[in-house]
This record gives sequence, C-alpha cells and structure tokens, in this order.
Amino acid sequence: MMAPKPARALTELPAWRELEQHARDMKDVTLRELFDEDPFRVRDFSFDELGLYADFAKNRVTRDTMRMLLDLAEQAGLSERIEAMFAGDKINVSEDRAVLHVALRADRNATIDVDGHNVVPDVHEVLDRMAAFADKVRSGEWTGHTGKRIRNVINIGIGGSDLGPRMAYQALLPFSDRDLRVEFVSNIDGAEFVEATRGLDPAETIFIVCSKSWHTLETLTNAGAARDWVLAAFNGDTAAVARHFVAVSTNADGVREFGIDTDNMFGFWDWVGGRYSFDSAVGLSLMVAVGPDNFTEMLAGFRAVDEHVRKTKLDRNIPVLMGLLSVWYNNFLGAQTQAVLPYSHYLAHLPAYFQQLEMESNGKHVTLAGDQVDYQTGQIIWGQPGTNGQHAFYQLIHQGTKLIPCDFIGVAKPLSDLEHQHDLLIANVFAQTEALAFGRSEKELRDAGSPEAQIPHRVCKGNQPTTTLMLDQLSPRSLGTLIALYEHKVLTEGVIWGIDSFDQWGVELGKILAGTIADEVTADGAPSLKHDESTSELIRRYRKSRGR
Ligand code: F6P
Repeated sequence: MMAPKPARALTELPAWRELEQHARDMKDVTLRELFDEDPFRVRDFSFDELGLYADFAKNRVTRDTMRMLLDLAEQAGLSERIEAMFAGDKINVSEDRAVLHVALRADRNATIDVDGHNVVPDVHEVLDRMAAFADKVRSGEWTGHTGKRIRNVINIGIGGSDLGPRMAYQALLPFSDRDLRVEFVSNIDGAEFVEATRGLDPAETIFIVCSKSWHTLETLTNAGAARDWVLAAFNGDTAAVARHFVAVSTNADGVREFGIDTDNMFGFWDWVGGRYSFDSAVGLSLMVAVGPDNFTEMLAGFRAVDEHVRKTKLDRNIPVLMGLLSVWYNNFLGAQTQAVLPYSHYLAHLPAYFQQLEMESNGKHVTLAGDQVDYQTGQIIWGQPGTNGQHAFYQLIHQGTKLIPCDFIGVAKPLSDLEHQHDLLIANVFAQTEALAFGRSEKELRDAGSPEAQIPHRVCKGNQPTTTLMLDQLSPRSLGTLIALYEHKVLTEGVIWGIDSFDQWGVELGKILAGTIADEVTADGAPSLKHDESTSELIRRYRKSRGR
C-alpha cells in the first residue's frame, strides 16, 4: 500500500526553494558573526524545560533560517502527521500499520484506537504482568528449577530487541539491583553467548528471549544455545525451560513451538517498531533490573515529551527543532553525518541506540508514494562518550574538512561522589562546544606567541555547529525524556523528507541471502554456487579452511 502523491514535491515547496537560496547566503557566515550580531541569541535559541536545558545557540542558523525551516515544516504537513501518528492512523504505509510507540507510555485512562479497538488497556495489562514478574524475580519468589534464587538475567535479542534495554540498563545502573547480574546477548557469534554465561550457574539464571517476529536468526540461534546450556545442567529435563525462559514477542505460535510456555510470554503489537520498543515488554530485563517503579518513572519521562511534541507550537517544540536542524545541515549545508557525544559513562550506549533509531528509520530512498527521492535522507549517526572521543576522533571535527554537527549531552548533577571529576567532565563539554564554534584564529595564535611556522597548523577555523542538551540529572524519568526527544526528532525529519520512517525492507535482503549462504557454507559435498564470482570464491575459501 502506497500513499498518494503529495500535491507538490518537497523540493518544489516555497520554503525549500527559499532555504536553498538562504543556504548560499549562509555559506560563509560564521558563528562568531552570528553571536556578535545578535545579543539575544542565547535567550531565544535555548529552552529550559522537560528537566533539561537545550541550547541551540551554537548552530549555524539565524532567526530567518529558523523561520524558513518552520515554514518548511508547515508546508510538509508536520503537525498533521504528528496528530495522525497519535490518532493511530496507518502512517507506516508500506506495511499498512499504525505507529503507536506513544501508546506504550500512555496514561492508564487514555484512549488510543487502532481499527476501533482501544489499545491502552492492553498495554497496561502487559505492563502489570511485567511488574508482577519483575517483582517475583527481584524478591526471590521466582526461583530456578532446583529452587535456587535467580541471580543472573540474560536478555537475548538483537537490533531493537537488544539496543534499547542494553542502553537503558547501562544508563540506569545506579538505580538497579546490584545483586542481579544482567547480561545482553545479541551477536550470532557464539563468543558473546559463551562470555555472557561463563562461570554462571544455570540454576540461578533466567533468559529473557526478545524477538518481535520470532524469526530472527541470531536470536533464535542464541536462544537454542541457551536452552541447550540449561538442559545440559538438568540432565535434559525439559521442565526446567519453564523456570529459566520467558519470551517477549508478538508471535505466540513461534514462542510455543520453541518450547516456552506462553504463560511466560509478554506480548506486544505490530504497531510498535523494533527500534521504538524498549518501553514495551522488550524492556522486561530493564524492569527486572531497576524495578517497576523506576520503569514507570521512565515512561512518565517519555510521556512528558509526547505531550510536549503534540501540544507545543513548532517554534518552541524541542524535538521538532532538533529534527529541523538536522534537515538544515543534511539538505542545505551538505553534512552527511551527525555525532552524538554523551558526556556520561552511563550513557555510553546512546550513540549505538540512536544509530539504529535514525538510520533504520530514515535510511530510505523513496517517498511514501514510492517515488525515488532527489534529495538526501537519513544521516549517518556516530559517536562515543566524552571525554574518550576527544582523544580519538575530535581532531577531525576541529581541523578536518568535513561539516559535522554534534549533539553534546551532559548531566548537571553527578551520580557519584567524585564531584571534582564531574566538574572536569562538564568543563570539557563547555570547552569543546566553545572551541568547535569559535575556534582559534591566526591573530589569537600570534598574540599568544605561537611560532610563525606553526600557525597554519594550529588554526582552528571553528564554525562547527553544536547543540547542547544538559539534563538536570540522570534518572529513569530523564532517560525517558531524552529518548523520546530523539524519537520525535527522527519523526520530524522523516515527515519533512516524505518517507516511511517505520519500515526496514533493506535489512531483509541481507537476512534472506544469509539464510541461503548459511546452507551453502555448511552443505556436504560441493554446492553449486549461483553468486557473483567474488562471493562464490569467499564461500569456497571458507569451506576449504573448515575442511569441507
Ligand atoms: O534489523 C532488522 C530488525 O528487523 C530490526 O528492525 C529489529 O529491531 C531487529 O531486526 C530484531 O527483530 P526481532 O525483534 O523481530 O527479532
């Protein structure tokens, strides 16, 4: 099912045309000039709400730029599209599905209909069951097959069934039960499973197998390895599976077939995309780790942003502004990538999480109507926690030849007693954004007495745009807030680009080919290979190295 063509192509919209001209005018304008010209820049380009301070002032935009981007949002129908999502319309056109991750955090009394059915009670029924299960594991009431208390929780899943809980568990470590060890296994490489289970007692270990489809090779293979590991410890007694495995899936038949009792299954729905799912039952391992109350707090953080995006005028709408800035750099100033730089050890997995969120959502080449786009879509997201990244790749951002907009994410209140280290950490956020924006000129270097021959090498031109998001504190609530901001940022971009941000057909091709090649790699005798010569030779060589 495809959407009808819009009345006007994106690149023909008046705001798009205006932005193209404006980008030419802005090409050589520096952040230093922008700050010098506008004394109210910081006041008007920053927001203090939702438990965070969002500073957009160090972006290469003027008030005119923002006005044009907001016009573009209006002409592209952004507000209508946001409403359509919240109303349960099937905005995932290629799969003919509603897109309702916002229902996962809706208030218990809310009503959100999909095909005439209010899904909110279903969501809360699962949340309540998750809470009961999490409480049982945390209190020791849920025991293993031999009656031992559960000490280890292993989440098996990949992509959206891994990155969210993995990222959030690390983020909320200070809120977690430290007597429980929580591990994540995603890779088809058996090494990850072996390392995660090394030294663990199967009698004290529970596996949470997460797969929306229950078709994913990596997850089902690792779940099989886990089942073998458990059964080996209990002399093949399959009754142990019920005490050591629970499933999170939309596919009850698949779960049953695998041997997991569907009483131990936590469902979700086809209107939740994998990369938008960790506040569904996919977050079960997180809930076990941090407890139901903290999970509920996290949902409240998501919900606050949902209300914000829906009710706040676009010119004060933080995730919308984040998305529009991305469009500005991506489509008008020629940036290809965006760095996400969390200054928090706890937020170490954020770049990987946002990578899937953005790149799987907006890595698309056709419009909703199926027409080839003639403009850039999803950008490359990358990054690492500061300050580590500073000693690795920041050199290229400071003095390389590429435009790289960066999001700096900091936390005002430290979570450890090492307050001085926290001061130093945050000082680095401020120093980096200042250096990236304003650089160091020849004159400044000369005045500071730099040797003449070194001056060209030492000049930092600056003008690298940054956004700083400073959370008041890191908590379940602020984590929910942060993630929801990026979810709606990605939606904003996708609406402007007129693409389906909620399918992921591209990933399917690799999955299909991997299945065929897995058979060829393991086949007895020489299989007839019908690939290109490069691929066939790789297969032959690998088979040879394995004595096949
Ligand atoms: O990578 C493709 C993908 O379909 C992701 O969108 C998804 O999050 C992941 O695989 C895992 O899928 P599942 O939860 O169905 O196992």
